[in-house]
Amino acid sequence: MMLTTPPLSLYVHIPWCVRKCPYCDFNSHERRGAPLFEAYVDALLADLDHDLPLVWGRNVRTVFFGGGTPSLMPPEAIDRFLQGASARLRFAPGCEITLETNPGTAEHGRFEGYRAAGINRLSFGVQSFDDGCLQRLGRIHDSAEAEAAIKLAQDAGFDNINLDLMYALPGQSLSMAEQDLQRAFALRPTHVSHYQLTLEPNTVFAARPPAGIPDDDASWDIQEHCQALLADAGYAQYEVSAYSQAGRRCDHNLNYWRYGDYLGIGAGAHGKLTLGSEQAILRRWKHKHPATYMAHAGTAAAIGGDERVAPEKRPFEYMLNALRLVDGFALAEFAARTGLAPADIAPRIDAACSAGWLERDGDLVRPTELGRRFTNDVVSLFLDEAA
Ligand SMILES: C[S@@+](CC[C@H](N)C(=O)[O-])C[C@H]1O[C@@H](n2cnc3c(N)ncnc32)[C@H](O)[C@@H]1O
Ligand code: SF4
Repeated sequence: MMLTTPPLSLYVHIPWCVRKCPYCDFNSHERRGAPLFEAYVDALLADLDHDLPLVWGRNVRTVFFGGGTPSLMPPEAIDRFLQGASARLRFAPGCEITLETNPGTAEHGRFEGYRAAGINRLSFGVQSFDDGCLQRLGRIHDSAEAEAAIKLAQDAGFDNINLDLMYALPGQSLSMAEQDLQRAFALRPTHVSHYQLTLEPNTVFAARPPAGIPDDDASWDIQEHCQALLADAGYAQYEVSAYSQAGRRCDHNLNYWRYGDYLGIGAGAHGKLTLGSEQAILRRWKHKHPATYMAHAGTAAAIGGDERVAPEKRPFEYMLNALRLVDGFALAEFAARTGLAPADIAPRIDAACSAGWLERDGDLVRPTELGRRFTNDVVSLFLDEAA
């Protein structure tokens, strides 16, 4: 089987935050003094130049500014980066361009600037609308500020908005989780990401877990109840944590889950690229620390590592992503994205079907409800063995 080049996305990492949240293990560093945004844009463009030969001639379908807190960047800096990027790469018509936004960084006039720069989707890190929960999460904003920021963005003309909410929060009851959703719905976002709070290693919460985190059963009840509320409000679930109105799925994240390609630019950013001529899949990541990254961007010294994904590792990587999707995947797409024959994984697909974890309809394979509850077990079937 041949690897064929899938759609290409561009991920841009902005590594600063006003304050580090105690649950967060993203590559984010507390801002000390004013970050050097202009110098960072220079570094991003140099980084992009260095990676360009890997994607020669391909169109970029989506761009995502993630963090960290990309909304710390002034619109002029975002504009300069996007102008520079579009001079180097072809952006496909209708390209989705998302900026992650912390509601505590919204300032009057900013959203107009982001729109003028070409951003057409915002993703707000709301987490909760309960002020007690927000405080326990160490957030820099309260619920009124979050609502005001979202309205400012809508007034500036943004009509494609995601809200990140977390559930199973310290001290959160089922009705509090429901309240969070009701307040989200009142703002009419097009998309909701609903994440269960996880205690990530090497975070303050992992070292000192806060009191009152709902246990597994209570968390499951919250999830089931919230899934139903989201569906009733018109938000169809299409991935473990992602819900959207019709036609408003996040193209960028869908490309990850479909094992598409992405360039990763910025401190600690990860990329995955299919190299057609070599019939290889390359993973490349950049140095995590902003100062080290900026000192070396545009040279090989900014690269934290390069790894070629061996064929026998591809089924696991593919399933880790594709089985998050409610619609699953097509075997033909598995073949195109991994370069492997569907027959190579047929016994494992059959075993998962017998266990009631997957169901198959011709070329289509999708997780059952049981399979979605035990994603880790299903995915581990595809671990490691020679394909
Ligand atoms: C990079 S942050 C989003 C933007 C911005 N940094 C902010 O927090 O407002 C991505 C999202 O991941 C989620 N998240 C981060 N850490 C998490 C954790 N430990 N458990 C569950 N969700 C988490 C949060 O909902 C967060 O908004
Ligand atoms: S603002 Fe977002 S990226 Fe920054 S520390 Fe908090 S959750 Fe992490």
